[in-house]
Amino acid sequence: MLVVLLAIGVVTAAPLPPLKSVTPPGVRIGVAVNQAQSDGRDQAALAIVTAQFNSISPENLLKWEVVHPEPDRYDFGPADRYVEFGRQAGMFVVGHVLLWHEQTPPWVFAGKAGGRVDRDTLLPRLREHILTVIGRYRGRIGGWDVVNEALDEDGSLRKTPWLEAVGEDYLVKAFEFAREADPGAELYYNDYNLWKPAKRAGAIRIVNELRARGLRVDGIGEQAHWGIADPPIAEVDTAIGELSAGTGVKVMLTELDIDVLPRDPDMWGADLSKKAKIRAATNIYPNGLPDDQQRRLARRYADIFGLVVKHRDKVRRVTFWGVTDAQSWLHDFPIPGRVNYPLLWDHQGRPKPALGAVVEALRGTR
Ligand code: XIL
Repeated sequence: MLVVLLAIGVVTAAPLPPLKSVTPPGVRIGVAVNQAQSDGRDQAALAIVTAQFNSISPENLLKWEVVHPEPDRYDFGPADRYVEFGRQAGMFVVGHVLLWHEQTPPWVFAGKAGGRVDRDTLLPRLREHILTVIGRYRGRIGGWDVVNEALDEDGSLRKTPWLEAVGEDYLVKAFEFAREADPGAELYYNDYNLWKPAKRAGAIRIVNELRARGLRVDGIGEQAHWGIADPPIAEVDTAIGELSAGTGVKVMLTELDIDVLPRDPDMWGADLSKKAKIRAATNIYPNGLPDDQQRRLARRYADIFGLVVKHRDKVRRVTFWGVTDAQSWLHDFPIPGRVNYPLLWDHQGRPKPALGAVVEALRGTR
């Protein structure tokens, strides 16, 4: 009888232990917070953050366009509050991100005399930015995503303004400046789709080249913005093993969420009229996630955390990209205006079956 009642949700089981209490020793369990949270305005989400997690990442507020919008103007208010919140709560505080081609204001890539920026202009800008931002939080931000998304899918360096203006050693420079700014901070390379062999080989090459120059690299982050079935779990298993064996540095899942909506291959770069059609066809759960899909999501998370347990000697951190479903960026990516359900707490901040599945997968590993 009890089993039946539990299954239909009439009786709730004993309260779940907090995630951080069941995560294997040596593995940090983190979450990305937005500004409403780090400013203290979203107390309901903050209660989940402090009870469940032991690491935080800033969803947007340390990105270049937010923290350094103009050449001579830094806006450190939101970042200061983020770091202070983390410190007060005893969290491992992550910095995201120093060098990226996105969310970087146009002035960074503008030449002094108009036209495109050159190496001799861009490198001092990068150095000044990194020294100022890391320097301010020296000893308080424990680890930095130094470079984000430097690779194309084939494993070659992505054609960004950084590559074009500075040349291939822009990564070397970024890691040099970061170490100079805070020799005590952990430094990471972060990217997505590292479960794909060619791109993974590129990331392994980057990390090994940096380390061959004597630079500090502590971890390699797979963002882990994954789907309900893709990547297949066996490929994630291989990826974690090879990223670790190929570099000797720790592996992290840095932006974990599971998109439960269909991905149309045309979603990226679709024109506006096409986007509206794709949105209508793929916004399939506008009024809630059906029970069978909840269970599917729970199984997916159980599989992923099964691998975290299996590879606990290699995995240093798992960070969810958002606290509850209400705040996820996946409502607007890759198609704006859909309702998504990618995280462990629902739109009302209630635990989903996926939370129980994660706890179950982790339990017994401490
Ligand atoms: C996303 C944020 O979640 C959104 O709020 C913002 O509009 C765009 O960026 N990879 C990254 C993250 O490294 O910084 C991105 O975060 C998601 C993809």
